[in-house]
Amino acid sequence: MPRMPLIAGNWKMNETTKEAVGLSQSISFQFERNFDEVEVAVCPPFTALKSVRNVFDFDRSPVKLGAQDVFWEEEGAYTGAISPHMLEEMPCEYCIVGHSERREYFHETDEDVNRKVRALLAHQISPIMCCGENLEVRDGGDACAFVVDQVRKGLAGLDAADIRRCVVAYEPIWAIGTGRAATPEQAEEVCSAIRATLAEMGSADTAEEVRILYGGSMKPTNAEEFLNMPDIDGGLIGGASLDADAFARIVKVAEGCRQ
Ligand code: 13P
Repeated sequence: MPRMPLIAGNWKMNETTKEAVGLSQSISFQFERNFDEVEVAVCPPFTALKSVRNVFDFDRSPVKLGAQDVFWEEEGAYTGAISPHMLEEMPCEYCIVGHSERREYFHETDEDVNRKVRALLAHQISPIMCCGENLEVRDGGDACAFVVDQVRKGLAGLDAADIRRCVVAYEPIWAIGTGRAATPEQAEEVCSAIRATLAEMGSADTAEEVRILYGGSMKPTNAEEFLNMPDIDGGLIGGASLDADAFARIVKVAEGCRQ
C-alpha cells in the first residue's frame, strides 16, 4: 500500500483567533472537495484550535487539525500547560512535538519529546515528531547520524504498532524560515536514513507505513522536487501555510505527484 502523503501547515505563533477563523475559512474554501490522494492538516495556536475546528466542521471540510505542542501529564498544577486529553476533546488528529523552535527556545530535550509522543499515542493523537540538524552539524558531515539519534530517542520504547501511528518530520534548522531549502537529495538522504532506523526499531513493514515529511522553506515552486523523492511523503509547511492559496497549491502538487 503506497503511503498517503500528508501536507501539514504549522502556523507557529501567528493568527489571533479572529484571523485564524478567516484563514481557515479561506483554506476550507480552497478544499471544498474531499481528497482521495492527499491528507491535509493545519496546526493553529492553542487559542484558535476550537474556532478552526468549528469552521471545518461547519463546512464539512476534510482538512484535519493539529496542535503545535502538548505536555505529557493528564492534569494538575502545571501552569500554562495543555494536556493530551484537552487536545483529544477538540478533537485534534495530530500534534507536532519536538519542533526545533521548541527545542531551542523552550529547552526541550529528546526525553521530553519521548514523553510527549507517548502521552499523545495514549490519547489517539498522532504525533508529528520533528527532527533536524543545525548548520554546524550539517557542515561537519554528521547530519544523518544526528537526526537518527533524535529519532531513536524521540520514539524510544514504542512498539511497532505505535511507531506506525507516528509521523516524522525532517526539518533542517538552517532551512527553516530562511528561504534556503535543503536540496531534494540532501532531504532524501536523511529521510531514507530515518526510514532505515524505523525498520530497525519496529520492522520493515512498519517503516514502509510511516510518513516522513520534509519541512524548511517548502513552497509551491519547490514542493514537487521534494515530493517526488521516494522517502518523502509530504511536507510540514511554515510560512507558506499562512497563505491559503500557496498552501492549496502545495497540496495540488502533492496530488499531482501521486498520479
Ligand atoms: P518554513 O516553511 O517557514 O521554513 O517553516 C518550516 C517549519 O518550521 C514547519 O514546521
